[in-house]
Amino acid sequence: MGRVEGKVAIVTGAASNPGLGYVTAMTLAREGAKVVVTDLDLSGAEACAAAIRDAGGEALALAQDVTEEKRWQEVIAETTAAFGKLDVLVNNAGIAILAPIEELSLAQWNKQIEVNLTSVFLGCKAAIPALRAAGGGSIVNLSSVAGLVGLPTCSAYGASKGGVRIMSKSLAVELGKDNIRCNSVHPGVIWTNMQAAATGASDPSGVDAGVSRIPLGRVGKAEDIANCVLYLASDESNYVTGTEFTVDAGMTAQ
Ligand SMILES: NC(=O)c1ccc[n+]([C@@H]2O[C@H](COP(=O)([O-])OP(=O)(O)OC[C@H]3O[C@@H](n4cnc5c(N)ncnc54)[C@H](O)[C@@H]3O)[C@@H](O)[C@H]2O)c1
Repeated sequence: MGRVEGKVAIVTGAASNPGLGYVTAMTLAREGAKVVVTDLDLSGAEACAAAIRDAGGEALALAQDVTEEKRWQEVIAETTAAFGKLDVLVNNAGIAILAPIEELSLAQWNKQIEVNLTSVFLGCKAAIPALRAAGGGSIVNLSSVAGLVGLPTCSAYGASKGGVRIMSKSLAVELGKDNIRCNSVHPGVIWTNMQAAATGASDPSGVDAGVSRIPLGRVGKAEDIANCVLYLASDESNYVTGTEFTVDAGMTAQ
């Protein structure tokens, strides 16, 4: 208990359940953070905030399209108005447009880059003044194993996540003087609504761990990622910045 006690965090893309943002928001709140949960899907974000409050935590739900620069300014302002400051930004919202490159349209490419990469640029840029005002903070950006290694049908998705990886390192170097840390997290195959849509499976047992070459032989749970984000959000990681955290059961060790 209390690993992020007193901190204020924003988690984007927190409506999907099961989803990495939803479980990360629940985990940060359980460990003492006040959490602003945002999503395109306001009713889903409100359900996440309600679940946090039911468990005794503090949360605020906001509608947000992470690709809109002006909305980012408003979300940061509404966060500091509600909870007084900002310590942690988790850029989690994302989509997966998976197709062989010859079947991928320019519009799909642009959409993938806008939602997964440009949004992270906008979020980091908008949050920095508030993080600096708090004396520093932690930015955690959700990348993917597809941002580390080549995977079929992942030309656009992998490019977006590879961009998130190197942007995170650039920000770590640029913002170290402000005590703002920035790290990327690279999930492997984790059971969420996105994973269900990508694989067509109705439950984790429907995903073939052999096909995905997962050494631990099982699909991950959202908690596996949330625990990594919790560490990066907490002061336990206060000497950790510019690093990529692979949480993939060994997929990319091969
Ligand atoms: N699940 C996995 O196996 C896996 C693996 C690697 C990386 N990731 C990454 O983790 C993150 C979360 O993935 P997930 O599996 O929980 O996905 P998910 O589809 O279950 O949840 C994603 C959430 O993001 C929201 N969202 C999408 N576009 C948005 C926008 N423009 N503005 C605001 N919100 C928006 C959706 O409404 C949804 O609630 C994503 O960035 C994803 O690429 C997931």
